[in-house]
Amino acid sequence: MQICFATNNLHKLHEVIPLLGADFQVVSLADIGCTEELPENQSTLEGNSEEKAMYVYQRYQVACFADDTGLEVDALSGEPGVYSARYAGPQRNNEANIRLLLEKLSAKEDRSAQFRTVITLVLDEKKYQFEGVVRGTILREPSGRGGFGYDPVFVPDGYAQTFASMRLEEKNKISHRGKAIRKLVDFLQNQFNP
Ligand code: IMP
Repeated sequence: MQICFATNNLHKLHEVIPLLGADFQVVSLADIGCTEELPENQSTLEGNSEEKAMYVYQRYQVACFADDTGLEVDALSGEPGVYSARYAGPQRNNEANIRLLLEKLSAKEDRSAQFRTVITLVLDEKKYQFEGVVRGTILREPSGRGGFGYDPVFVPDGYAQTFASMRLEEKNKISHRGKAIRKLVDFLQNQFNP
């Protein structure tokens, strides 16, 4: 079965393809001819994830899912959260976002945080949501060259390296998105091979 991952973020696409397994073939927005920016006008991860998935489903009539992810920092009362991409401004610059985050945390002892992903699946007119969370800490300076977004400053609990220093398979095993995608895959497998 083909299923569209409604994202313009190629890093996310690259992470998710190996997790879906042989029964489900992931197609990209480019594959279905969708070249526009997806709307993200809601104030929650749940709302944005649903908005993106519904936008694609209603215009292209394909089974699809979208993810919305936020970095939620305890000492900043959950900031940047749903505004993670635009934390330092509308240009969505990763380096500037990290700089602002480290600045805001510079005087804070508590460095604990979590990544949270919400996936919305739209299938046969129905919506389903799946959540994945990983707890960790924010470093004082970036480390590692892999991954994307806030990966260079996030060390998951129980590990000594940032996500940016891990291999893709290692990040996928424990990450917010890996957890949410495994719930999605379990659901799809139950629907189609009960
Ligand atoms: P969105 O889900 O594409 O809106 O992402 C929100 C923000 O979180 C962007 O700045 C992304 O770069 C960042 N982000 C999303 N997923 C990850 C991840 O797995 N690691 C690090 N940063 C991420």
